[in-house]
Amino acid sequence: MRIDILTLFPEMFSYVINESILKRAQEKGIIEINLINIRDYSTNKHKKVDDYPYGGGTGMVMSASPIYEAFKSITDTLTTKPTVIYLTPQGKVFNQQVANDLIKSNTHYILLCGHYEGIDERVLEEIVDEEISIGDFVLTGGEIPAMVLIDSLSRLVPGVLGGEDAFKDESHYNGLLEYPQYTRPAEFLGKKVPDVLLSGHHENINKWRHEQSLKRTKSKRPDMYDKFKMINKNS
Ligand SMILES: C[S@@+](CC[C@H](N)C(=O)[O-])C[C@H]1O[C@@H](n2cnc3c(N)ncnc32)[C@H](O)[C@@H]1O
Repeated sequence: MRIDILTLFPEMFSYVINESILKRAQEKGIIEINLINIRDYSTNKHKKVDDYPYGGGTGMVMSASPIYEAFKSITDTLTTKPTVIYLTPQGKVFNQQVANDLIKSNTHYILLCGHYEGIDERVLEEIVDEEISIGDFVLTGGEIPAMVLIDSLSRLVPGVLGGEDAFKDESHYNGLLEYPQYTRPAEFLGKKVPDVLLSGHHENINKWRHEQSLKRTKSKRPDMYDKFKMINKNS
């Protein structure tokens, strides 16, 4: 999977993409992440990338041209079409299902991060395929939302996590929350790890985990539980 990020603040990404699982996945060549500074494509002598909004109002708007030129610098030499995603509070709200669908649809994504009051609409009309929001609230920029997408998409790429199917057991993948997890010691502050997990009986462990998943989804996220029950009438 390849992800190109169009941003005015590439340094913001350094810790997230250069640590832990994402770092290893890049080292192994499973994912490629490129940072493109939109400011490098400004033709203004002061490298200006924003301007006052037509019609008045507070704040600045990111200009169309540097974004378009930055986009073209990626796509001019390509033979396949990447999916261009604009991170915006006006987009489709991101969740695990959106991540699962996205990862099946392409292997190359361009993430466009806005800042200030947003981006000149004309360049959005020209280059954007999808608009994604990370929730119904407004942040100062698209960089944190882009990091959320990079992280959640990367872990769905085969080989990024330890086990091939590791992500399939986790909360939300199949419409349920994950069962409780325990590690050593077997007793902590008088609380014991459930006996079944020490039994080595894999069938019973799986059964217990599924029951726990159902139980905690029902109590923590009744909306998810009702949806799961409707789709999986026999579970
Ligand atoms: C202050 S916001 C602009 C909001 C815009 N004026 C509006 O009301 O729709 C600046 C940038 O932050 C990003 N952003 C803010 N909230 C976001 C969210 N919930 N999800 C994704 N991106 C967001 C977008 O890239 C946006 O262009």
